[in-house]
Amino acid sequence: MTFTPRVFSGIKPSGDLHLGNYLGAIRRFVPLQDTHETIYCVVDMHAITVWQEPEDLKRWTYEIAAAYIAAGLDPARSIIFNQSQVMEHAELSWIFNCVARMGWMARMTQFKDKAGENSENVSLGLFAYPSLMAADILLYKATGVPVGEDQKQHLELTRDIAKKFNHDFRKQIKALGFKGDFFPITETLATGPAMRVKSLKDGSKKMSKSDASDMSTIYMMDDADTIAKKIKRATTDADALPSEAAGLAGRLEAENLVGIYAALSNRSVDDVLGEFGGQGWGKFKPALGDLAVSVLSPIADEMKRLVADRGEMDAILRGGADRARAIAQPIMADIRNIVGFIR
Ligand code: TYM
Repeated sequence: MTFTPRVFSGIKPSGDLHLGNYLGAIRRFVPLQDTHETIYCVVDMHAITVWQEPEDLKRWTYEIAAAYIAAGLDPARSIIFNQSQVMEHAELSWIFNCVARMGWMARMTQFKDKAGENSENVSLGLFAYPSLMAADILLYKATGVPVGEDQKQHLELTRDIAKKFNHDFRKQIKALGFKGDFFPITETLATGPAMRVKSLKDGSKKMSKSDASDMSTIYMMDDADTIAKKIKRATTDADALPSEAAGLAGRLEAENLVGIYAALSNRSVDDVLGEFGGQGWGKFKPALGDLAVSVLSPIADEMKRLVADRGEMDAILRGGADRARAIAQPIMADIRNIVGFIR
């Protein structure tokens, strides 16, 4: 069975977008438009697995859709929509809840991190989160998913669900006329620099939407002065920069800042160190600040323009949802048939 080269990815509207989301995800969505059918979602149903103020949820949903477009996604080529407009995501996730095993979910490190000591008191949705994520991807039989490193385990689970479904229902899949597997074994697309952007204040933690300290995170909507200030105050060691990548070993903060520079300038880490090796932070940080501002500021300006036009954003999301549904519905009809649901 050959599958159409199709990419799906999503971002949760649960906080302001930051540099990690940009480098680990959004920026990498853009070139895939040339080689794949591309579907990019704002996963609002995932966001509500923890409490969201409804007004914030709406604002962040528009903001992410705007960031997609401002960063270079073309809504005429890529499908851009918010998850809750396509009901089939919820329907397939229920079926996957019945395919996935409790033990698989209980092993998810993101669940364990989020639930912490409090696992009896988190939502049932948070536990089932990876099953909805598998539904997002497999509803479109996506063959590739560009994500940052923190999502790798969820994608392994997506492959496990696909394999178990292909196996458990192989008789029905064959009877429907499929030659091989029904679901593809989706590839994780997570290579390159900055797959795990770290907090500016602690190189052992990832940059995240929910960090308590504002100074650890560069937000996509930060103004130029704020970006420069945050980079200037980023934690570093006192040593000069090494001349090649091997010299960054064990220097978490240095490795992070050089990785960000490399990703933002589309250069390799060795190339960047070829330029800055032997120099101190007093030289490197202002250069990184200027670079970050030159990349992020035009995107932020375009995001602001787009979110101000709710009518236009609603039309884009609705149009995207219609196109997403057109792909999802025949696949979902096959799935109902395979499982044994009568219609
Ligand atoms: P979310 O909303 O936490 O993050 C969105 C994307 O940004 C990446 N990312 C990072 N990359 C590098 N460094 C960081 N510090 C960093 N922080 C976040 C994430 O890896 C992700 O690619 N479960 C997903 C959303 C989702 C999804 C999907 C993704 C739902 N369904 C289907 C792909 C396919 C999430 O919470 O991402």
